[in-house]
Amino acid sequence: MANRKPKEFEKIAMKFEDFEGILSFPDVFGRKNAVHIEVGSGKGTFLVNEAAASPAVDFLGIEWARKYYLFAVDRMGRKGLTNVRMIRTDAAMFIEKNIATDSVDCFHIYFPDPWPKRSHHKRRFVCAQNIVQILRCLKKHGHINIATDHKDYFQWMQKEFAAFDDELKQVDFIKPVGAKENECAGTNFERKYIKEKRNIFTIAFRKK
Ligand SMILES: C[S@@+](CC[C@H](N)C(=O)[O-])C[C@H]1O[C@@H](n2cnc3c(N)ncnc32)[C@H](O)[C@@H]1O
Repeated sequence: MANRKPKEFEKIAMKFEDFEGILSFPDVFGRKNAVHIEVGSGKGTFLVNEAAASPAVDFLGIEWARKYYLFAVDRMGRKGLTNVRMIRTDAAMFIEKNIATDSVDCFHIYFPDPWPKRSHHKRRFVCAQNIVQILRCLKKHGHINIATDHKDYFQWMQKEFAAFDDELKQVDFIKPVGAKENECAGTNFERKYIKEKRNIFTIAFRKK
């Protein structure tokens, strides 16, 4: 793929011009199904494997970086997947403004940028403000699945989620189908970190 220009397959790439305000998943996918959202999909490895293995579920990846978004769209398009879409935007803003209440079955957040400097912690995706929005969008008994290599961010997440005990129950992390035996989530970053022998931390919740 190094020398080939990635193709922005129209059937995969979602554009803001394609819809107004709140997104209708049945309109986007042409059917009413379970919906999973991945925040920060990177090169799309998790989505490609999961969408191929779970044809009865519809997947939406949100990725900020155009280069990775295009890479993911190209992979999904070449595989001919029909149950996955990508949008290039800021996930926090998009979830707040464009995702309907009680419409999502699962949020996947794998290896979110850790922003290690204290002065940058306010940029972390997992924060009370975004948990409020994720909770709003989740259906009853919907899941949140998270993995990170960053111990400090993991502890930060545990504290942020502790404030939502009334609405979220901590549950076992369910390994995605694309994850190999030695992996938790099966993403590109996880594969890189496993080679570096880093510890991986996972946490999962279910909306009560
Ligand atoms: C460390 S990478 C992990 C990528 C992928 N999940 C993996 O595990 O291989 C974090 C990704 O999240 C994306 N990202 C960071 N903040 C974002 C945001 N607010 N909205 C959407 N994507 C974001 C980055 O561009 C990057 O691709």
